[in-house]
Amino acid sequence: MKITGNRIILLCTLALAAALSIPSATAKLPLRKTKAERFTSTAPARPEGPARMFYMEGVTSMVPDATTKPAKTGFDNLTNGFAPQGPDFDTIDEDNVVPTRSFNDGRFVFEEKETLEDGVGPTYNAQGCADCHQNVVTGGASQVTVQRTGHTDDTGKFFESPGGSLIQSRGTYADIVEHVFDTDETRAFRISPAALGDGYVECISDSTITAIRDAQPQALRGTAPEVPVLEGDGSARVGRFGWKAQHGSLVSFASDAYLNEMGITNPLFLDENTSNGVFVGGWYSSTSKFSMTSGTSGVYVQSVTITQFPEPASAMLLAVPTALLIVPGLLG
Ligand code: HEC
Repeated sequence: MKITGNRIILLCTLALAAALSIPSATAKLPLRKTKAERFTSTAPARPEGPARMFYMEGVTSMVPDATTKPAKTGFDNLTNGFAPQGPDFDTIDEDNVVPTRSFNDGRFVFEEKETLEDGVGPTYNAQGCADCHQNVVTGGASQVTVQRTGHTDDTGKFFESPGGSLIQSRGTYADIVEHVFDTDETRAFRISPAALGDGYVECISDSTITAIRDAQPQALRGTAPEVPVLEGDGSARVGRFGWKAQHGSLVSFASDAYLNEMGITNPLFLDENTSNGVFVGGWYSSTSKFSMTSGTSGVYVQSVTITQFPEPASAMLLAVPTALLIVPGLLG
């Protein structure tokens, strides 16, 4: 039988796959999930108790209960009482900071400028949370926008750009900085909202949010989407953070921001950002055994242990091994 070019490529790929002992899909680590899996909840939201503001039989308008008082607000870098103020801010440094101990510790981490050594990259948008959230104090809103792109087909269905709708506008190498495809004509800029006071928003029960929705006039009634709490057991919660209410928990939002805005992987987001869907995350060691996804394609590729960020002559050096290792259908 004549061997066609395609077959040669297939055989080479299979040979390479065998040589590198690509693990079967069942070897996928439990925490490794495709983006679609990660953002699909496995169970509906659990009851979170009665709606506080509305819990009066037959009442659908605002009924503040006698024990509630307004939260303390102000652009003053002072705690609103949700967490202790903590040690004098000027005494906190990289070596003595305790991330969840106090407001001042949190402020330090939020303002910290992350570097390559801290895990920034390969593609990212900024080096610290405060780069985008700082008006007029750390945690506030700002003029910084991020860009989301994709395309919409004739039926109105939206498809994200390869690698996800969020464009990472910076990279650790010039060749891997993401570009917007001409064909991705659905483009939007989203501005950075304030995160101040979000701890209180996280405490609002789902039932309070849906009660507010239900009390709205039909014509302007909002939706209360259920989204998975990523650090939870897979069950959902009413989303409340982000322009599309895409997260219901601050740990989920922060870990998403660490990966997608700063390129820092973390226990909830183990896979590096791609460059327009191509894995450029590091250097391969052919001995490692975990599998990972490539962009939004859901294709598993042979894993890689990121041992270093090499100096590639070009990003293609990184892209080529990835492309060779993608074996659609073989690994599911
Ligand atoms: C490059 C700019 C940028 C950086 C860096 C950034 N953010 Fe954001 N942040 C945004 C934008 C834009 C949104 C709105 C995103 C959306 O809804 O699509 C947002 C939204 C949020 C929200 C939701 C606020 C609300 O009430 O809806 C939180 C919380 C948040 N960011 C926390 C963080 C944390 C924590 C970090 C650091 C790990 C961080 N952000 C880094 C731009 C940024």
